[in-house]
Amino acid sequence: MKLTIHLEKPGCGDGMYEIRARGYLAAELFWSNEKGILEEYTAFACIPLGLDGEGVFRFQGGRGIPPEASSVTVRAVDGSLKKWEEASAIIPMDFRSPLQDAEQKICVMSDLHLSRRAGRLKWVLRQGKKADLVLLLGDLVNDGLPEQFRLFSRCLEEALPDVPVLAVPGNHDFPRNPLPLAGEKRGDFRGVFQQMAERAGNLGIQLKADPRGGFCARAGRIQVIGLYGASNWRRLRLEKDGQLAFLEKELGEKQGEEPEEKLGEKPEEKPFLRLILCHAPLLDHNPQRRKGQSQPYLGGDRALQKLLDGQENFLFLSGHTHLSPNLYQGTVEILPGNRIYANVGSTCPCEMKGEEPLTLKEWREPVMTELILGRKTASIISRSLVTGKAFPRGYYRFNLFS
Ligand SMILES: [Fe+2]
Repeated sequence: MKLTIHLEKPGCGDGMYEIRARGYLAAELFWSNEKGILEEYTAFACIPLGLDGEGVFRFQGGRGIPPEASSVTVRAVDGSLKKWEEASAIIPMDFRSPLQDAEQKICVMSDLHLSRRAGRLKWVLRQGKKADLVLLLGDLVNDGLPEQFRLFSRCLEEALPDVPVLAVPGNHDFPRNPLPLAGEKRGDFRGVFQQMAERAGNLGIQLKADPRGGFCARAGRIQVIGLYGASNWRRLRLEKDGQLAFLEKELGEKQGEEPEEKLGEKPEEKPFLRLILCHAPLLDHNPQRRKGQSQPYLGGDRALQKLLDGQENFLFLSGHTHLSPNLYQGTVEILPGNRIYANVGSTCPCEMKGEEPLTLKEWREPVMTELILGRKTASIISRSLVTGKAFPRGYYRFNLFS
């Protein structure tokens, strides 16, 4: 039995993985080191083997190699799923990832869809308790009802009393037909956001909310711009003289200055990253788009894309699709100039779409995404909310610019 790997780029999993395992039916690939398979990561491939026991996996999409990994291990299984065998291949030194320091940790979750089960929501939110900041990308509740928002608000207080939480609304945060009750204290998205804004202020976040629908916040080395891309009647829409005008103004402001900078003290230069939150992904970066066939989710899609095309050093975060980060082609795009688009799946079970003959059940599990900012590099790590394991297919690293 043998595994041969041909990697293409340092620090990156893209490349060819050739397996020869006579007598076996299928194989899974894992990151590993001298102690064995990295237990805190799921498999990153599951492929059928030919009658001769041969199979090839072509990894693409720019996923990172975890710093703990120094080898790749294949585990081949036979038809009874009871007999299995392993073989490893060493990752060449220059292709391994250096360890990363973590100065700031942000937890991102989307599509929580609370209807009645407060216990589940509290448990999900608690997964963010070690983060410096939690960001929710919409569809906090399922039907936009006042009782759901009031329940959400209580869960938030109980689950994350000391962690700042910020959110943008999704289509499900509005009732099908606007209710006369909307606007009552904490009975709608704006009410819950008001609570979040007060808490964030008390926890040291500088926040500016815009009446047109959106907010801008500064937390450590990141700036967060939230766009309200959903409104009454569950429309997904950005208004030109509303949220888009707000975004344009914020993008025009100088970035990178430390607010607490004092005269005479030269602060250590640290790169800065801007996060833009919007419930629905942009058409050009929707992981399931088909060339020439797909329609944008969002009214104002082209105008928003045009604004972003003039920018660098940003991470556009969206949800809404419920697509698993384990999609073969990935749900994160890192483009030159650190123009990054990430669609983060859902805290409800996720969907796997694609043409892979075999996929693993655990790849559909509900997810959260961690954004870890180091001094010079950052990583995006998607994690199963069921097992806490990281998904190698949802793991990316990039350099931060000064
Ligand atoms: Fe949605």
